[in-house]
Amino acid sequence: MNEHLHAQPAPPQPGAEPLVRVENLTMAFGSNVIQRDLNFEIAPGEVLALAGGSGCGKSTLLRHLIGLQVPAKGRVLYGARDLYAVDDKEKAALLRSFGVMFQAGALWSSMTVGENVMLPMQVLTDMEPERREQEARFKLALVGLAGSFEAEPATLSGGMRKRAAIARALALNPQLLFLDEPSAGLDPLTSAHLDELIMHLRDDLGTTVVMVSHELESIFALADRLLFLDAQSKTMTALGPPKALRQDGPEEVQRFLRRGAAAPVKEETPS
Ligand SMILES: Nc1ncnc2c1ncn2[C@@H]1O[C@H](COP(=O)(O)OP(=O)(O)OP(=O)(O)O)[C@@H](O)[C@H]1O
Ligand SMILES: [Mg+2]
Repeated sequence: MNEHLHAQPAPPQPGAEPLVRVENLTMAFGSNVIQRDLNFEIAPGEVLALAGGSGCGKSTLLRHLIGLQVPAKGRVLYGARDLYAVDDKEKAALLRSFGVMFQAGALWSSMTVGENVMLPMQVLTDMEPERREQEARFKLALVGLAGSFEAEPATLSGGMRKRAAIARALALNPQLLFLDEPSAGLDPLTSAHLDELIMHLRDDLGTTVVMVSHELESIFALADRLLFLDAQSKTMTALGPPKALRQDGPEEVQRFLRRGAAAPVKEETPS
């Protein structure tokens, strides 16, 4: 299996050090090991997709990458800094450079959409209220929700709530954006719009994106590399550009990347 790991280099970033290095990471809940011996790097400015069967540990891996779950073994390094060994001040500074959208994409229901997006600015910066509002309106416009600043989350559709959660993740112009299944459950048009947004963030702002996704269209359109976590062997079984893995990755990864290929992949967009 290991011939597929690191078979393909990260996208060319002349002279660039990896942004993140994951070393011998084993993730567990108590004695229940979820994944073991993960070794990979995240290059600055790449879009890295995480995939694998339900329950294999994708969301758990995200939590390890953002400082929410202590590794059972191994390290998560940001440059020379070990995320789980730095002091609180350094850790807080690192966390401020991350934008995160969790799988549930939850918004605070007691606040308007705009207040939700402004929350990170309010808690983590000393930005003036007018600037906060300006920034939040801008971020909402980016995700196609320009008109929803005053809306209550309960009045939005599921897809709109998801996009609002992404706007909140973008609130502090993160260098690194973590998205857990951003387009799951969205209609094809909204999902394509989201892919364009992510592409813009990477290409124009140099944002590095780590994204859990099952959506083949998004993976092939966006991901520089795909990391595949296997639930049976409990470790990563492939890491490389999605097209290369579809061609010569491990069988299970090829199956994942070719599924639906016999039938038309594109669905009709409801008018
Ligand atoms: N808080 C927890 N306590 C104990 N076990 C947990 C906890 N959270 C997750 N797990 C277990 O860890 C494993 C990985 O869960 P995780 O949510 O990371 O999977 P996933 O790959 O994101 O799945 P999905 O595709 O369904 O979102 C699962 O077996 C799950 O039951
Ligand atoms: Mg998950």
